[in-house]
Amino acid sequence: MDGDLAARRMSLHGRDLVSIRDLSREEIVAVLDSARKMVPLAEGSRPSDALQGRIVAMAFFEPSTRTRLSFESAVHRLGGSCLTIADAGATSLRKGESLYDTIRMLSSYADAIVLRHPQEGAARLASRASDRPVINAGDGAGQHPTQTLLDLATIRERFDTLAGLKVVLLGDLKYGRTVHSLAYALAEFGSEIILTSPEALRLPDEHREELKHLGAKLRDEPDLDKAVRQADVLYVTRIQKERFPDESEYRAVVGSYRIDAHTLREAKPQLMVMHPLPRAGEIASDVDGTPHAAYFRQAFLAVPVRMALLQAILGPAPRRR
Ligand code: CP
Repeated sequence: MDGDLAARRMSLHGRDLVSIRDLSREEIVAVLDSARKMVPLAEGSRPSDALQGRIVAMAFFEPSTRTRLSFESAVHRLGGSCLTIADAGATSLRKGESLYDTIRMLSSYADAIVLRHPQEGAARLASRASDRPVINAGDGAGQHPTQTLLDLATIRERFDTLAGLKVVLLGDLKYGRTVHSLAYALAEFGSEIILTSPEALRLPDEHREELKHLGAKLRDEPDLDKAVRQADVLYVTRIQKERFPDESEYRAVVGSYRIDAHTLREAKPQLMVMHPLPRAGEIASDVDGTPHAAYFRQAFLAVPVRMALLQAILGPAPRRR
């Protein structure tokens, strides 16, 4: 490993990852570069013992398929082991134990904690309760920083850059934590961000203001067809039904946008259609067989990206030169 990469890795060693903004641009690039090299390990074609003897706790207090299982796969591929909470109802939270105490306990059983929780801010609280690194695997409508890392890896694999790309964020921009994280990274890397959503699900003002403060190239394009024609990346999101305070508000927007092969008829040939998944009707299955569909590759890249991150946070601290 060259000295520069060692120094950048060093900076992640033992650290929490609560928000994508906890990582500098250089640290993100270091993780993505390392993830590229992890692809053969993630495919199982080469073994690794980089996390041998290390235990990672998966504390999932909200449903997950991809995030939990790709983190578990990443740990196993690196020779480590997992302690898993996949059902909050099977823990002592049911008896009234606080999240703070639960995390404090876990930090004495594991070397790092991966936390998903329905409340925004839960990961920050957990990072204060734990003396081991805490990785945010999604906190309510807040942040999903490791999703952002794999989203960036997917875009970079296709385009080799993020700068100058036109990225349309489509769907639930109000409650969708994946777009809240991704927008900051896109701004940091110089992509143009185009926002397309039902009026009731617009990106909240606090995010718009912070993004503009960071110098983001940000604009609204309410017309989906126009947005699709301009896009290099179309990042589709599910309406986050579980975050609506009122069922009638959800019913007013459900089904208000959908991408199918016909919607993409005037798209650029290189357009990537991405989705953090699960999808719930926003992308028709006739897109799956087109060269635009990138969402299953995106889901696979979760494994090498999370391997790279875990190795940087938990692996042996690189020696200073
Ligand atoms: N993308 C994502 O977070 O998927 P899961 O909810 O299945 O983990």
